[in-house]
Amino acid sequence: FNSGALAGLNVHITAGPTREPLDPVRYISNHSSGKMGYALAAAAADAGARVRLISGPVNLTVPTHVERISVTTAEEMLQASLEEINHCDIFIACAAVADYRPTSIAEHKIKKGNEEIMELHLVKNPDIVATIAAREDKPFTIGFAAETRDVISYARGKLDRKNLDMIIANDVSQAGIGFNSDENAVTLVTHTTQIDIPQTSKRQLATQLIEQISLLYKTEK
Ligand code: C5P
Repeated sequence: FNSGALAGLNVHITAGPTREPLDPVRYISNHSSGKMGYALAAAAADAGARVRLISGPVNLTVPTHVERISVTTAEEMLQASLEEINHCDIFIACAAVADYRPTSIAEHKIKKGNEEIMELHLVKNPDIVATIAAREDKPFTIGFAAETRDVISYARGKLDRKNLDMIIANDVSQAGIGFNSDENAVTLVTHTTQIDIPQTSKRQLATQLIEQISLLYKTEK
């Protein structure tokens, strides 16, 4: 496809998990590998975009011509996402952000007690993509919806509720695709159209997604 499809555009992508500390040695996180976000960053750079990759802790190398900003927590990811946002044309939220974080971080390692049950108190993290999409000068904003059932209707609900321009719906109930896998299959949903992209490698899928995003950005923005 047209390799200059995103020439001159600034694309910001969140990727990977966030990590929410409990004390100096422990944290709450998830199994996100960051592969989809990194593949999108590489594909967007190949399409000529200036790419800012806001990444949680992952074991991946930075794609060439991509600027990586490394963060740990959801709050850090939000701050990094807000920096430079007025220069952003397309914001893609691919990160698996922890929904909650511990209400406080213990200064010292929490010691094992005698009680069998231990309670953790958690507080809701900010919704990064919804915060970006609520801005008056919002970029073309794209989210992901990983669902195990009623995939398209839940994705449409998120598209509306978070004020997104596009959502990439992902059926994570199917073995071999999605979380931590090298392959994925998705449905791209906007307010006016729906496009299926069948199962393929994340790298190949990213190229197809960037191609569709560049077309829809021009027609729907
Ligand atoms: O609501 P849910 O977590 O399923 O929405 C997923 C989408 O929202 C993804 O694009 C994810 O990156 C984004 N998200 C976010 N900040 C959060 C939670 C989710 O940007 N705190």
